Amino acid sequence: MSKAIRIHAHGGPEVLTYEDADPGQPGSGQILVKHTAIGLNFIDVYYRSGLYPPQGGFPLIPGGEAAGVVLDVGSDVDWLKPGDRIAYAVTTGAYAGQRVIAADRVVKVPDGISDEQAAAMMLKGMTAEYLLRRTFKVKAGDTILFHAAAGGVGLILGQWAKHLGATVIGTASSTDKIELAKAHGFDHVINYREQDFVAGVAAITGGKKCDVVYDSVGNDTFPASLDCLRTLGTFVSFGQSSGPIPPFSISLLAQKGSLFATRPTLFVYNARREDLEVSAAALFDVVLSGAVKIKINQRYALSEAGKAHSDLEGRRTTGTTILIP
Ligand SMILES: NC(=O)c1ccc[n+]([C@@H]2O[C@H](COP(=O)([O-])OP(=O)(O)OC[C@H]3O[C@@H](n4cnc5c(N)ncnc54)[C@H](OP(=O)(O)O)[C@@H]3O)[C@@H](O)[C@H]2O)c1
Repeated sequence: MSKAIRIHAHGGPEVLTYEDADPGQPGSGQILVKHTAIGLNFIDVYYRSGLYPPQGGFPLIPGGEAAGVVLDVGSDVDWLKPGDRIAYAVTTGAYAGQRVIAADRVVKVPDGISDEQAAAMMLKGMTAEYLLRRTFKVKAGDTILFHAAAGGVGLILGQWAKHLGATVIGTASSTDKIELAKAHGFDHVINYREQDFVAGVAAITGGKKCDVVYDSVGNDTFPASLDCLRTLGTFVSFGQSSGPIPPFSISLLAQKGSLFATRPTLFVYNARREDLEVSAAALFDVVLSGAVKIKINQRYALSEAGKAHSDLEGRRTTGTTILIP
């Protein structure tokens, strides 16, 4: 019998309960994995609170990111064997000591990347990959704005965007977070609790504004984020840590400068196995080359997942966080 965090109804961090949970046996196309480290993500909060509906109903095991070792493989899985180190990014099911997962959703972890780093970076790092390389192809000379710069996705994306040659502008809510973001690729960081970030971006860019805005804060930064874009710029709404963006008229995009707007998700961008492999390989490359450093800023026991959620929602975490089963 393994242990897992399960939720039986939506609610606050208190609904995360640490229970016995049988992982089951791997069927066709599946593997049984023993987790060594599990990543914490804001999407876990959405599944817990009910903003995102549980796909398989209750009880739900949250968690989208982990690393571990293969314990057993289904009869038709020939490219993995017990003992292999793997990692993955999916929607749910990771807050467990062991789990069964589809083999085509995992990748092998290369030497030079620890289990803890892999657990901390697969979901956040492959998100940075598709945002920078596919949603909008960031190139040298581009100017980008990324909100919540000192967060999990933020510290990875900042380093990667700098590596691509962009001018990287961020926002964060405290002096400590601003310093941290500046140490992770951000050229300029605006304290959006104290300063109007639209005016800040205008001043930094000399009125030229940004080619792309990546906004995962949602309600609190919309529609001001649109005012940080040049004409024909791209608005990427990829999360809602402060609450969802309210419905708006598409003609707003015309008024703000014939903007493009998209609401992407990692799970669509990496749905095909070939895209997942390219995405993971690109992430492993920038980490192994040293262009992107993965530091783990918070560690909790898996049984303390409720405390980890409180800290994430309370804006008390920076960078990546892992849960240890
Ligand atoms: N669409 C996708 O494919 C995808 C994939 C991964 C992640 N995401 C999204 O990316 C965002 C970042 O995820 P993450 O796991 O790395 O989280 P995170 O950035 O480590 O944490 C969220 C940050 O958002 C900021 N924030 C602003 N208003 C907030 C509020 N009212 N409550 C809580 N936080 C607030 C905080 O930074 P400050 O204190 O500096 O404001 C906080 O640290 C989330 O919105 C997540 O849903 C989307």
